Amino acid sequence: MQKQQLLYKGKAKSVYETDDNDFLILHFRDDTSAFNGERVEQLARKGQVNNRFNAFIMQKLSEAGIETHFEKQLSDNEVLVKRLEMIPVECVVRNFAAGSLVRRLGLEEGQALTPPTFELFFKDDALGDPMVNESLSITLGWATAEQLEEMKRLTYQVNEVLKAMFEVGDLMLVDFKLEFGVYHGRIVLGDEFSPDGCRIWDKTTKKKLDKDRFRQSLGDVIEAYEEVAQRIGVPLD
Ligand code: TMP
Repeated sequence: MQKQQLLYKGKAKSVYETDDNDFLILHFRDDTSAFNGERVEQLARKGQVNNRFNAFIMQKLSEAGIETHFEKQLSDNEVLVKRLEMIPVECVVRNFAAGSLVRRLGLEEGQALTPPTFELFFKDDALGDPMVNESLSITLGWATAEQLEEMKRLTYQVNEVLKAMFEVGDLMLVDFKLEFGVYHGRIVLGDEFSPDGCRIWDKTTKKKLDKDRFRQSLGDVIEAYEEVAQRIGVPLD
């Protein structure tokens, strides 16, 4: 598979076309951004750690019967994926209150959410990824009711698989964000799963081991990602 021109440069990944229209190459960069791109820094090893982390998780999800765009890790920073027609709606599941939910509803950080909640956000940088709902998503043509139903079902299924995986490493999966797309008519998991797009805490100390370390300037960001990787068995070298 030949890497061709740059299709799109996101905040942390660059997307390249290949000589096969059904596949793309994602390049994980070291760029780390927060507050909708207001703060951007280079964190050494991040691209490589997230690429390996994502490959491991995508393979576990695939083994659990969840179809993903992941095909094959190509290099330290690159992965070959199926080319999806992305749905511009992000799916968020929360097992414990944190982040925007705490700010919005005044909940206590760490409050257990039973059953876990499911939220939708419109993927739009200029608008700051506002929270939306199913009705808006259908009316505005972002997805059909059937697609949204499938995305919700799959997101909850991912939650069950990953909660159990993190539990083994004495870690709490607090919340996470997924993005889906359409591939030959099927809803398929796209984008990435890494500590950039989820919250993971140590079960005992509640130490934050995800991108909140960057957002809140807590330090040792990549060291925390590596600790999570090591605890759940992601091969890092
Ligand atoms: P939030 O608390 O900021 O709404 O985020 C919930 C989870 O989803 C958190 O793990 C971060 C992740 N997320 C992203 O990675 N990107 C996004 O654009 C959004 C809305 C959430």
